[in-house]
Amino acid sequence: MYADQKVWFNGQLVPWKSVTIPVLSHGFSRASAVFEIFGIHVGPDGPAAFRMDEHLKRLMRSIELLDMALAYSPKAIAAAVAETVRANRMGRGVIKLMAFWGEEVVIELVLDAKLDLAIFPVPETPDLHLDSTEPLSACLSKWRKIHPETVPVEAKACSNYLNGYLARKDANKRGFDIGVMAGTDGFLAEGSTESIFLVKEGVLKVPPLGRVLNSISRKSVLEVAPLLDIPFSEEALLPDALLDADEIFSAHTGVKVSPVNRYEDRELDAPGPVTAKLMQCMQKIMAFQDERFLNWFQQL
Ligand SMILES: Cc1ncc(COP(=O)(O)O)c(C=O)c1O
Repeated sequence: MYADQKVWFNGQLVPWKSVTIPVLSHGFSRASAVFEIFGIHVGPDGPAAFRMDEHLKRLMRSIELLDMALAYSPKAIAAAVAETVRANRMGRGVIKLMAFWGEEVVIELVLDAKLDLAIFPVPETPDLHLDSTEPLSACLSKWRKIHPETVPVEAKACSNYLNGYLARKDANKRGFDIGVMAGTDGFLAEGSTESIFLVKEGVLKVPPLGRVLNSISRKSVLEVAPLLDIPFSEEALLPDALLDADEIFSAHTGVKVSPVNRYEDRELDAPGPVTAKLMQCMQKIMAFQDERFLNWFQQL
């Protein structure tokens, strides 16, 4: 599907299909890999990356949390992203950035290796559902979010997505779009690839950091809310709070705010008034129409 795209791989632009690693590489066989995804949006001055500085900061933090080392600085990676976008004449889409131990190992548990870096330009296609305003259905997953003392949940590590895969699979089998996981302590965490927010009596509520991925969309929503006079609270929430919520929405890179119209067997207003206000504001920001947030975009 992306065969004609050029991928930046360890400093070279190469054909998409040539970026392969051995099945027995540590990156594949033991999931020694981290990644990032962020949006490319086309503004008045051409393509721009959404909060790439924040995404690259998180990439470096993921690498640090896994006690790995990358030979490229955030500045060098940003330049490589710009080179990739320009070489592919990329429009709206996403950049997927993978850092992984690509060398083959057979038996040992490798503790140190060179991180390979690949930057994939992914042009928009309908199946990516970028910028969709369609409401989603959600349920409480039978799976618990991995405990932060078992692996760093703050790291965008490929291995953490086994947890997310199971939650999404369980939700889909039950007829829901997304599954919301509680932690092993019973308090709400997040969805497989999305943060979860609720609104109760006009107050926006979200589970605190430390138990969830430090989502850039989550951060963006919390930065926008006060400007819309929406009070918010980052607090420990029990799953029952979702049964009792006036509004629920999810947030992730592809769609900043996605209203939830069904949670378990409860129908919800989607979008409810607070969610609608946030959606409109985020849509304006993403269309480069809000001067206050133009610095969220890095021109490429
Ligand atoms: C577990 C998890 N939570 C939240 C998010 C949303 O994060 P972001 O807004 O940075 O895309 C993601 C995105 O992939 C995720 O995987």
